[in-house]
Amino acid sequence: MKVVTLSSPGGLDKLQIGESADAQAPGPGEIRVRIHASSLNFHDFAVVTGGIPTEDGRIPMSDGAGVVEAIGEGVDEFAVGDHVVSTFFPNWLAGSACIDDFTTTPGDGVDGYAREYVTRPTHWFTHAPQGYSHAEAATLTTAGLTAWRALVVDGGLKAGDTVLTLGTGGVSVFALQLAKLMGAKVIATSSSDEKIERLRTLGADHTINYKSEPSWGKRVQELTGGRGADHVIEVGGPGTLPESIDAVRIGGHIALIGVLTGRAGDVPTAKLMAKQARLQGLIVGSRTHQQEMIRAINANGLRPVLDRSFPLEDIADAFRHEEAGRHFGKICLEF
Ligand SMILES: NC(=O)c1ccc[n+]([C@@H]2O[C@H](COP(=O)([O-])OP(=O)(O)OC[C@H]3O[C@@H](n4cnc5c(N)ncnc54)[C@H](OP(=O)(O)O)[C@@H]3O)[C@@H](O)[C@H]2O)c1
Repeated sequence: MKVVTLSSPGGLDKLQIGESADAQAPGPGEIRVRIHASSLNFHDFAVVTGGIPTEDGRIPMSDGAGVVEAIGEGVDEFAVGDHVVSTFFPNWLAGSACIDDFTTTPGDGVDGYAREYVTRPTHWFTHAPQGYSHAEAATLTTAGLTAWRALVVDGGLKAGDTVLTLGTGGVSVFALQLAKLMGAKVIATSSSDEKIERLRTLGADHTINYKSEPSWGKRVQELTGGRGADHVIEVGGPGTLPESIDAVRIGGHIALIGVLTGRAGDVPTAKLMAKQARLQGLIVGSRTHQQEMIRAINANGLRPVLDRSFPLEDIADAFRHEEAGRHFGKICLEF
């Protein structure tokens, strides 16, 4: 089978496509999956460029979607031919968060899905949504589930709430779509007027160019009649958190998801305290969260926004495309 490996210390020129033996036949409780697609996340970018050090020879990519090719003894959750999608934390099945690192995450602490076949225990996958392409399904493992957890699991989103999304990356575009699906209002930001047009076609009620309007927190207050946003999809980190705190309503919820502007920085703690807002960190979600999200997708027909797909061989070009920042929604690998 075709497989991509990353040699240490990482770098896009350290990604190598090669051949290895096909995945072994599934043992009891296992399935063998022909992987057909993966999707790119900022986390995968950090791994392949060496920002997150991994073992020499690591197979990258956290997200994988494909078809069950063979099942082992005792497997009744899946049948041959089922379309499946991988989970970000294979061992976090349900309940409260129980892990704060990436030691079990495919494509980081363990080998991921930049390969054609894999044999794994059933709980490393869930069913994919009905009618989804493999590329669409692959976008759910990380970006889709993060947006779902931020808004639905942690946020308790309800119809009529106002959601603020930052930028037009994978997580934020999913959050916009989920929020609209659930009857919320959305204020969406971007650095690009062209992308802002696309945010509008996806249903954003208000848009802000965060480059031309650097005090966007104040603008959110104006757009909500001085109330503020109920939920903020905070993907920027230290560079955006002060504005997010300005934007959130008193007693609102900021889902602390990303670090696009850096890993550490000043937080206006007095203002956060005065806002009595909840700043909740999160990393993706459990297998049960994924199944609940997929049930919602099946009931409502949401389709992820795909930016562009690349063949497995062109994985480095796919990451260069992500690095250029011109994408809107998800970049995928299809093979
Ligand atoms: N905690 C978790 O579980 C989790 C899960 C997934 C991702 N993340 C994190 O969330 C962040 C986003 O991930 P992603 O996969 O969605 O990334 P992505 O698809 O690469 O998104 C990049 C986009 O973010 C926007 N952006 C960049 N700097 C910004 C800023 N200063 N203010 C507002 N928007 C900005 C840009 O949108 P415009 O071009 O429109 O300006 C850019 O296109 C990353 O830090 C990632 O590590 C965390």
